[in-house]
Amino acid sequence: MTSSVLIPIPTSDEPGAIADALARPGIAWLQDQPFPLPSEADLQFFRDELPKRLDRKNVSLYPNGTLKGAGADAAVIERVRRVLSARMQSVTAFLERCAPSVAKGMRLGTTSFRPIEEQGRDLSAHASNELIHVDAGAYGATHGDRILRVFTNVNPSLPRVWTTKGDIHAVLRRYADRVGLSSPAALAQGPFGKLYSALCRGLGFVTGLPTTAIDTSPYDRAMRRLHNFMKDTPAFQSDPAGHEELSFPPFSSWLVFTDAVSHACIRGQFAFVDTFIIPRENVAAASAPWSLIERGVAVRAALPPS
Ligand SMILES: [Fe+2]
Repeated sequence: MTSSVLIPIPTSDEPGAIADALARPGIAWLQDQPFPLPSEADLQFFRDELPKRLDRKNVSLYPNGTLKGAGADAAVIERVRRVLSARMQSVTAFLERCAPSVAKGMRLGTTSFRPIEEQGRDLSAHASNELIHVDAGAYGATHGDRILRVFTNVNPSLPRVWTTKGDIHAVLRRYADRVGLSSPAALAQGPFGKLYSALCRGLGFVTGLPTTAIDTSPYDRAMRRLHNFMKDTPAFQSDPAGHEELSFPPFSSWLVFTDAVSHACIRGQFAFVDTFIIPRENVAAASAPWSLIERGVAVRAALPPS
């Protein structure tokens, strides 16, 4: 599989290999299988039972132990929680071991299982995985922190198929004007915005509760505009420029900053997905969405025409 965004990693334990790949706006595709997979009995249980019981978009385990999406049967909930918890721990340990500079200070979002065939899901456009987009916000405002997702296809016989139109640099080069992101002014924080974010942080400090879900920022609103524009614009979805199809075989894993690589999942059923929020200073600024927007027209002008 050749691609402008795919970065094959032959050996995950090679020092620096993961961090080097994640410093680029691409998909780190792991050629070995670095995570211990659940037992075949557990995988078969997930494949057989969770499509029938799903009551949300995905089955998700949160760091505080809350499990959502698996229905109400206590025995099922316990088994799913055990498997997802083990996955959560093994992927976290993998990142801390193989990419400590990226993992430093990271926050775990969820570990989830996607039990439904992605092709033809009856989801709204903004919730659909089948439309190419970059991710915007994860569990609320990120203020420029990065969204790292780790995928494993556990379909026993079929690939998980993605499409992309390249990294966010390529997308902004073509569409920043139409989304209002061609100037650093898109990231300007007014006095009321600063006050609101400060109040959210203060509330979090006093209560000890995360307040990112009620916080916002110009960066998060800018990324939401880009996300919505991409999904709402048929001309973007059908634009052949940079369009690629990627096929991830059964039991392969890949890591990607989903805020910086456009992506859609057009076919595939049964995958684990872990989401981490990575402090923005842990990753090279050159390919970071906030940096590209901040450098605005100057960056775009320096690029060759698309
Ligand atoms: Fe996404």
